[in-house]
Amino acid sequence: MTGLDVVGVGALNLDYLSRIRMPRGWEHGVEHSVDAATIEALLGQADYRVTLGGSAFNTIHAMALEDAGLRLGYVGVAGRIPLRAPSVVDAMDAYGIDRRFVFADERLGGVCFSVMHDGDRTLFTHAGANTAFADHLDAHFDEVVAYLAGARLIHVTSFLDDRTPGRLLAVLTAVKAANPRALISCDPGHVWCANRTSDIDGILRLSDYLLLNRRERQELAGSFPHGIVKHPHGTEVAGTFLPQVPLPPEEIVDATGAGDVFAAGLLLELAAGPGRLIAGCERGMSLARQELRRTR
Ligand SMILES: Nc1ncnc2c1ncn2[C@@H]1O[C@H](COP(=O)(O)OP(=O)(O)OP(=O)(O)O)[C@@H](O)[C@H]1O
Ligand SMILES: [Mg+2]
Repeated sequence: MTGLDVVGVGALNLDYLSRIRMPRGWEHGVEHSVDAATIEALLGQADYRVTLGGSAFNTIHAMALEDAGLRLGYVGVAGRIPLRAPSVVDAMDAYGIDRRFVFADERLGGVCFSVMHDGDRTLFTHAGANTAFADHLDAHFDEVVAYLAGARLIHVTSFLDDRTPGRLLAVLTAVKAANPRALISCDPGHVWCANRTSDIDGILRLSDYLLLNRRERQELAGSFPHGIVKHPHGTEVAGTFLPQVPLPPEEIVDATGAGDVFAAGLLLELAAGPGRLIAGCERGMSLARQELRRTR
């Protein structure tokens, strides 16, 4: 038994925010999946702010900041760090997040480079080293299963490549067989909800808690009725609606990451007791409000 309370599993990214002129030849206001050379070129010329990211990392990080005395861990791939960027491994060490199964990889780490220009946000995403996760899982299958089966809660978020969902489903299925009491929460995000495969569906089906926003629920088209659905004016959970007064738009500084922090609130309560689902959604909404108002 590893004895951890909550372990995050998900792609690790560096999130860049830049206000440079848009490079020529790219459509504005949309998301482009790009190669390492395009990212290196952007990093070479741009003036930017860079932070650590990845949905599950944001959630585990937000939990660590709450200082609740929980034992936290992470499973993922840490790639090569570009110049002037922070190290996710150093951050995990600083926050006491166990990283024995954060695999080191020579490829450029995952990058999400966002360019704000004339009110449009254009995203350049690069999965990078995260695409090697399937291979790392294959090479360390039994150890990762034993590690996760020793945790009380496992929080899963998406990977962008085609191979990871199948390997991850095999791992999670083995974890449930080894320890049926290990609970899985999953925040699939837009990419998994909009591009479902039988492996992604398998992960969603295996999850005890499925976190969705309205758009994601619509994309799943009613297939997963156990979802917890987040709205600006409240949360749908277990057949009830927990209302809140929405913040007015002028109080919202940045909406990115509010959903990840909601997950942190939910997991903090579930780690205190599996019966604390409603309290978890309330705490999630409260932490999301703080995040929405936060100036970075
Ligand atoms: N106007 C608002 N006032 C208060 N809370 C809000 C408002 N709008 C959204 N929220 C809360 O913020 C959270 C947003 O979660 P959601 O899953 O929709 O985010 P997301 O767009 O997926 O973000 P990310 O994945 O980047 O974290 C929810 O908990 C929701 O209740
Ligand atoms: Mg989200």
